[in-house]
Amino acid sequence: MCGIVGYAGKSNGVIPVLEGLSRLEYRGYDSSGISTKVENDLSVYKKEGKLENLRTHIKDLNLTSNLCIGHTRWATHGAVNDTNAHPHGNEIFSIVHNGIIENANILREDLKSKGYNFNSETDTEVFLWSITDLYKKTNDIEKSIIETFKKVDGNSAFVIMNKENNKMYSIKRSAPLVCGLNSNSNETYMSSDPYALVGFADKIYFPEDGILCIADYTSLTNVLKFKNLDGSTSKDYKVQDNTMEMESVTKGGYDHFMLKEIFEQPGLIRKLTQLYLSDDGVKDLNNFEKFSSKNYIHLAACGTALHAGYVIKNFIERETKIKVGTDFASEFRYRKPNISKDDLGLFISQSGETADTLACQQMCKDEQLYTLSIVNVNGSTLFRECDKNLLIHAGVEIGVASTKAFTQQVLVGLLLSKALASNIDKDVLLKEFNTLASRVEDVLSRKDEIKNIARAIYNKKGFIFTGRGEQYPIALEGALKLKEIAYVHAEGYAAGELKHGPISLIDEDMVNVAIITPDLYDKTYSNAQEVKARKGILVSVGEVNNKELENDSDYYFGIDFDGLVHTKPVITNVVLQLLSYHIAKIKGTDIDKPRNLAKSVTVE
Ligand code: AGP
Repeated sequence: MCGIVGYAGKSNGVIPVLEGLSRLEYRGYDSSGISTKVENDLSVYKKEGKLENLRTHIKDLNLTSNLCIGHTRWATHGAVNDTNAHPHGNEIFSIVHNGIIENANILREDLKSKGYNFNSETDTEVFLWSITDLYKKTNDIEKSIIETFKKVDGNSAFVIMNKENNKMYSIKRSAPLVCGLNSNSNETYMSSDPYALVGFADKIYFPEDGILCIADYTSLTNVLKFKNLDGSTSKDYKVQDNTMEMESVTKGGYDHFMLKEIFEQPGLIRKLTQLYLSDDGVKDLNNFEKFSSKNYIHLAACGTALHAGYVIKNFIERETKIKVGTDFASEFRYRKPNISKDDLGLFISQSGETADTLACQQMCKDEQLYTLSIVNVNGSTLFRECDKNLLIHAGVEIGVASTKAFTQQVLVGLLLSKALASNIDKDVLLKEFNTLASRVEDVLSRKDEIKNIARAIYNKKGFIFTGRGEQYPIALEGALKLKEIAYVHAEGYAAGELKHGPISLIDEDMVNVAIITPDLYDKTYSNAQEVKARKGILVSVGEVNNKELENDSDYYFGIDFDGLVHTKPVITNVVLQLLSYHIAKIKGTDIDKPRNLAKSVTVE
């Protein structure tokens, strides 16, 4: 949700911090700010609204600072305004924060009783005044941060700078935070997302929770230090090369990141195929055979990831005798599910930082379940907390509306289901995956057909997406995409459910996007005809050269499913991705950063 970027080095940190914040805009935010240090003076500049407002606010100031921390805020505590924006600072410290301090009210009252006054409504300011209070007593910055960190409850990441020295500090608990190093210039960075550091830091450090990170660019020995809460040196971090390419930062000639990511899918399918269906890849997958004796898999996720989970449930239950329970993570975590330590927990997430999904994983971990993720971000909290992970290798997904991640999640889930069934026929899967990549390319090459359908229906009153069996999750996903980026009301429904109520919505201003594949064709086709009989507008997505569908639908998009035994949901979904994209484009919404949405929902 919130974005954090910090710099400490011999150059002007304002530049990389502002660039890093602009890269994090995709995560969703409603205000932004930076703090600088010039000699011994700390300054804070922050504005409500888009980052452009901040840039305008500081453009004539020619800010130069070797220490700079910046933040994009997605409001949790306190209104959206300049005062509540981060950084929060006083004469000694400036801080930025991502997450929630759950015991902020108690701590605030205690600090008020000591005479401290609060300027904002945020929980973050509690951390600021607490470290300030302790520093005045101890004159020890590290101790003040650590002792305050021990006092605050909740998932949080903090980055701190101070007027006394040229060091930047960070510490976190179950919230994303990395340190970066430019190993040539010894410039140091801290961020909530490695993506912000592409092109700046060639090394990325992933500290564990409760590790105090200290960036001291003036040090002649070690510009990044890591300490445990007892002050001892810590090795509790992982470090890796920052392998993200600069090209991931640009739209690559597409009008939107979302469109770029839709078009990346054929290449990503092939990349996934090479990684997972290589000899080593198959060997790794076969390690999952040990779970084939599991009776029950608890699958929890949110949004698009859960829709992928529904498809994966079908795969696993079709391939094995294992029962798969799927649930919204936000429901699973509170409904006291019957879980046994012999079950398997399976969590699906693009970001690996979704609070509800993380809470479910933690709940299962506490009950001693083996936990497995299907995740995109290597090093994310979910990745680090799970016993084993299946990475989807989708690359950075900037568009808030998830597209390529869905495709990769479903395919990895298919491979998992085959592994659980000890039924990985490498040649068969290679053939299907490569066929799928080519067929997705075919669909993408016919984008104008989809654009024309979008043009015909974009201003209709409402949309019901329908599908049966493995296509029901795709109906849900198609509806979610349209809601997210076009701001129109859309519902996903099991096709057989229409007559149990929703069909009353059908009239000449309602669109039914019906996915009608060869599976359960007759029943699904007749559902669509029920819509036509009531003057509904029927957009059917089905098999190529199906004259019946073509004649009986208002709009028809045919797909060659030949050779796609398991992966038809992936390709029908690509059609719906493009349909939603083009409807949104005609409506002129902010497709990459839709209103009210964040790319990663790190709060409940
Ligand atoms: C999908 O388009 C949405 N952005 C949203 O539903 C998303 O899938 C959900 O928040 C889960 O995110 P995650 O995959 O990062 O956990």
